[in-house]
Amino acid sequence: METTEPESTAVADRLLTSSLRTSYDPVVEIDWDAPHTPGAYWLPPHRSSLYGTPLWSGLTEEQRVELTKHEVASAASAGLWFETILMQMLIRQYYDDDPTSRHAQYALTEVADECRHSIMFGRLIEAMGCPVYRASAVDHWLGRFLKTTASGPRMYAAILIAEEILDAFQREIMADESLQPLIRMVSRIHVVEEARHVRFARDELARQVAAAGPVGMAYARLLIGRAAYTIANRLVHPSAYAAVGIAPQVGRAAARANPHWQATLRWSAARVHAHLADAGLVAGPGRLLWVRAGLI
Ligand SMILES: [Fe+2]
Ligand SMILES: [Fe+2]
Repeated sequence: METTEPESTAVADRLLTSSLRTSYDPVVEIDWDAPHTPGAYWLPPHRSSLYGTPLWSGLTEEQRVELTKHEVASAASAGLWFETILMQMLIRQYYDDDPTSRHAQYALTEVADECRHSIMFGRLIEAMGCPVYRASAVDHWLGRFLKTTASGPRMYAAILIAEEILDAFQREIMADESLQPLIRMVSRIHVVEEARHVRFARDELARQVAAAGPVGMAYARLLIGRAAYTIANRLVHPSAYAAVGIAPQVGRAAARANPHWQATLRWSAARVHAHLADAGLVAGPGRLLWVRAGLI
């Protein structure tokens, strides 16, 4: 049986109570057919991966708005991909857990949240009229490997990286009244519910790190670095640039060299990096992957 000590029970209990108070069903809470606001961005323009580049200067205002829409669709596609991986990891852990424990029951509640989120992101992509920007074949396979095998610190660290990076963008979006109302509402729902997931994952991670041996920690650092690298790389799918007439590889290269985008990546990862580094999970060869991803 998994962790059922008093401290983890108390955390799970609080999170279950909070879930009862503030949970949303996006299918009914959001008016999916509401017209979009003409001229409003989907992402603060300074968070676009091309902001400040010559390519950005060459776009019309309309194309800039369109680019942020496709960047949001790309992030939503990545978000629901991570959520599918996460749900399977939580269910795998639940398989060994005590179903009468608050801890196991909170894990299932989180899966229920993620089910609604993935439907919400699917609806969002549909409402924006964008394609689903799928992971590359290699990343798709790595995701399958992660969701089939990950446990212990690497499982919860991977969860935290995905959740906290997206959360940084969404907190800014929900507070920015100039943006499209639809993406602000989606972000608000996600931020409220994700705050519980981050709390749960941090609590679990601390316990898993305490229980891990040196070999487990070394493997975890490497896998966590790879997860961070994939997540950073996957935020803006290269095909998103084609929506505004920019060749995917040209757009990607410009974004990688863009100091604004480099600063945005570091900003989005600052909180989770500090937390994982404190826990001893960012070091050695794994740390190089964080650097290569531009996250630190
Ligand atoms: Fe989610
Ligand atoms: Fe989550």
